[in-house]
Amino acid sequence: MGPRRQFTVKELSLSTWPAFEKLAIKQGGCWCMFYQRPKPVGKGSSIEEWKKINRKDKETLVRQGRSRAILVYDDKTPVGWCQYGTRDELPRIDAGRGYRKVRPLVKEEKIWRITCFFVDKDYRGQGVSKIALHAALESIRNKGGGIVEAFPVVSKKMAAVPEWRWFGTPNMFKRERFKPVAPLGTSGLLMRKTILPG
Ligand SMILES: CC(C)(COP(=O)(O)OP(=O)(O)OC[C@H]1O[C@@H](n2cnc3c(N)ncnc32)[C@H](O)[C@@H]1OP(=O)(O)O)[C@@H](O)C(=O)NCCC(=O)NCCS
Repeated sequence: MGPRRQFTVKELSLSTWPAFEKLAIKQGGCWCMFYQRPKPVGKGSSIEEWKKINRKDKETLVRQGRSRAILVYDDKTPVGWCQYGTRDELPRIDAGRGYRKVRPLVKEEKIWRITCFFVDKDYRGQGVSKIALHAALESIRNKGGGIVEAFPVVSKKMAAVPEWRWFGTPNMFKRERFKPVAPLGTSGLLMRKTILPG
């Protein structure tokens, strides 16, 4: 067996945007925009037009400092990401029917969300998403902490398909001491963890 890979992490920013672009193109064009929008856009657009809208909107948000993610690198190659952000930056979660039932529990506290993971096919099963999650939580701590929400997939049928695992698994969050709060429909679970300022 060769030496274990040493992965490194960086925040998504204008300087890491080209690395994110490279990986996002491999992912196929969603650009992690879904949860950043309160409502869908691009109705009636072709898939190619929709991908272009997503890419442009994502770059704008990154320029404005309103899109956060941890990028994981193998040397200089970007191999995965974990999108995180505040409630305002990831507002689509608020529209979920299951979520609306439990949201009042949180009141006015500062809420963070972990909404999306992506790992390059060649790097899956090596703990890249765990590294990304841990780094995102450290980042949240350094930004003052708060209540962090996760929405892992519990449906076995969905979890068996990598493309449906973008929210991560309950175990990934249990290992980081998140606690289950409430089911989100039949496929998801709301989990939360409080992070004190670092
Ligand atoms: C979900 C995903 C991020 C996991 O990344 P990863 O780095 O391979 O995951 P890890 O090695 O850290 O393991 C995380 C969990 O996934 C499980 N897993 C990883 N590869 C798996 C596979 N091929 N089959 C089943 N489970 C698998 C691990 O067992 C682990 O489960 P556990 O937490 O219950 O122990 C990855 O599969 C992926 O990128 N899928 C595509 C998601 C996507 O399309 N995102 C973009 C949407 S915008």
